[in-house]
Amino acid sequence: MQHRDSHGRKVVYLDNGASTQKPQCVIDKEVEVYSKYYANAYRGVYEFGQRIDDELELSRESVRELIKADSTQEIIFTSGTTMSLNMVAYAWGEHVLKPGDEILLSEMEHHANIVPWQIVAKRTGAQLRYIPITEDCQLDMQAFEQLLNSRTKIVSITGMSNVLGTINPIKQIAEATHAVGGVIVLDAAQSVVHQQVDVKDLGIDFLAFSGHKVYGPSGIGVLYGKMELLKQMPPFMGGGHMIDQVFEDHSTWAEPPARFEAGTLPIAQAIALRTAIEFIQELGFDWIQQHEQSLLNHATEQLKEIPGLTIYGPDTSHKGAITTFTVEGAHPLDLAFLLNRYGVCVRHGHHCAMLLHKKLGVSATVRASFGVYNTLDEIDTLTEAIHQARKKLRLV
Ligand code: ALA
Repeated sequence: MQHRDSHGRKVVYLDNGASTQKPQCVIDKEVEVYSKYYANAYRGVYEFGQRIDDELELSRESVRELIKADSTQEIIFTSGTTMSLNMVAYAWGEHVLKPGDEILLSEMEHHANIVPWQIVAKRTGAQLRYIPITEDCQLDMQAFEQLLNSRTKIVSITGMSNVLGTINPIKQIAEATHAVGGVIVLDAAQSVVHQQVDVKDLGIDFLAFSGHKVYGPSGIGVLYGKMELLKQMPPFMGGGHMIDQVFEDHSTWAEPPARFEAGTLPIAQAIALRTAIEFIQELGFDWIQQHEQSLLNHATEQLKEIPGLTIYGPDTSHKGAITTFTVEGAHPLDLAFLLNRYGVCVRHGHHCAMLLHKKLGVSATVRASFGVYNTLDEIDTLTEAIHQARKKLRLV
């Protein structure tokens, strides 16, 4: 990445957990759609209309291939992870949940994987349960086993914490969930860009992720659902394209995925998502993991040496490319502000994970999250910027 800010400073972009920068090929693809063959999707038989439909189906196929789903019919385009999780909560949750049923989340979920379930629990009379985290910031798997029971209808869990970086044992969680007759929803917003996620191998029923966190456009996301579940799932939104027939007093539904894609899709964004996926696949997950692990190890070693700095999360062998920390005597907002003077972009605050911050006993933290274009030199800049910020705050 070669961006400079308005002061001419080289930008060190370490806020990839919030959103990634876009490779030129992704930007070019969106421009190509708008400038060469734009039309609405699934509505026109003219050349541009058909080209758009073909490109969208190629994109759906690239998502299928990325997460190793069985069929493109299992790939629903949404506006992002939040919309995908809301869709499962309202469409699947309200369809199956009865009073007394249980929804199992964890203490490390971000708000998109908590709030929709709270709303659905209230509407259905279901109860929310939370898997606690251990001292070393991993899921307490013993507690998980104890919380599971025949009333557990849905387990919705992150593959990788957006604050701690913790990578969760999803296959084990899926097996245990299925053993009590529940379904597992994987919030893959953070994990899908860092590691191979194989829905069949992991045994996932529903999976959500966003385009903008995988080097793709914003405004496009994905909900994967196992076909046998999608066939039973009623629509979440009504409108054009999702129907089979419309009568005066009722309508019948199209087959998935159309049933869940009411209205006009974010067309150019959905098409350019394929370019982003190809970008990731050309790098390959082996390279991505090796590169990001070296950034993470380097950052951890350097940050640990800074007086008063506390890192939140498990050791680097159990986490992805995220380092979240506080510096004694420095408010996270002040720190983020001062790091910006060195071109360093980090997120501060509760990172949409208030429950987790309460558990950690802090109201806010600073998060540096890494992507494929980051370098070891940039980690050095982060470290130097923290040293300078401590001086500025008279902590030295
Ligand atoms: N959930 C996103 C983050 O962690 C926005 O920053």
